[in-house]
Amino acid sequence: MRVAVTGAAGQLGRALVARLGPRLAWAGGRDELDVREAAAVAGMVERVRPDVVINAAAFNDVDGAESDPAPALAVNAAAARHLARACRDRGALLVHVSSDYVFDGAKREPYREEDCPRPLNVYGVSKLAGCLLVSAAGGEHLIVRTSGVFGAGGSRAKGGAFVERILARARQGAPLRVVDDQVFAPTYAADLAEALLALVDGGARGLVHVTNSGTCSWHELATAALDIAGVRVRVEAIRSRDLGAPARRPAYSVLAHDRARAFGLPPLRSWRDALAEFLRGGV
Ligand SMILES: NC(=O)c1ccc[n+]([C@@H]2O[C@H](COP(=O)([O-])OP(=O)(O)OC[C@H]3O[C@@H](n4cnc5c(N)ncnc54)[C@H](OP(=O)(O)O)[C@@H]3O)[C@@H](O)[C@H]2O)c1
Repeated sequence: MRVAVTGAAGQLGRALVARLGPRLAWAGGRDELDVREAAAVAGMVERVRPDVVINAAAFNDVDGAESDPAPALAVNAAAARHLARACRDRGALLVHVSSDYVFDGAKREPYREEDCPRPLNVYGVSKLAGCLLVSAAGGEHLIVRTSGVFGAGGSRAKGGAFVERILARARQGAPLRVVDDQVFAPTYAADLAEALLALVDGGARGLVHVTNSGTCSWHELATAALDIAGVRVRVEAIRSRDLGAPARRPAYSVLAHDRARAFGLPPLRSWRDALAEFLRGGV
């Protein structure tokens, strides 16, 4: 199996590249392939002829997308369509990654793949549109929804992933205020990468939810990261409405794993164990 990876400089992209070994046919970040360019996307698939393209490119600035939706829609929706059409035309499988933020959080028990999405913010709309466009292209596809991804090489636009930003702020002595009223399942990019490859190997298609096991709030995640890293500082728990972020977020976005199980994927380890490995220097 020959695999191409777009968005290879991000958290998931790096983790995939680190694991693919001889199966890696091509990998590139934004500088090598801007996924918004349909002709360039088609050119890569034509040239490399991969069996599988894993799209790890994404616009993840959830708050930024509220004031300027165009970049999120271009990368998360239109570019997903470019990739889906190029893969369809060359007979490749497209693995695309989506988000828990397609849900509104009203459910209060884990969201299943068949639950009706209702995004609360532009980012969620863009991710949902990407899934629909991949499906509408009519080629072979696997769409994996995940949540709260942490790993090495987080988004340049956001100054790294949440865990890295919290640790950096704590070490600078900056006050830490983190919301405790949004519950989700953090997911280690390395575990997600392995799960994607296992699902591909197992022939999974359609929509599948994948996260690490366990749930927490952003406040619990921050506290756990500081605890594991041995940084003794207090994190003030605040409510989302007190933060005043531009984008509304679901209060509950835990994803159910029944379909992943049905495709033979065992439960991923707990997010705490994964976080501990990441903070010990994992990729
Ligand atoms: N991070 C999360 O908490 C989270 C939660 C739920 C779902 N997801 C989804 O999981 C997947 C992997 O996310 P991640 O955490 O690995 O994201 P990430 O670390 O932000 O990586 C995304 C990568 O895509 C690149 N990119 C942006 N625009 C591009 C373009 N036009 N062409 C090519 N590359 C481009 C980014 O480059 P720059 O750094 O230069 O922008 C970055 O390297 C995404 O589909 C994401 O939406 C993530």
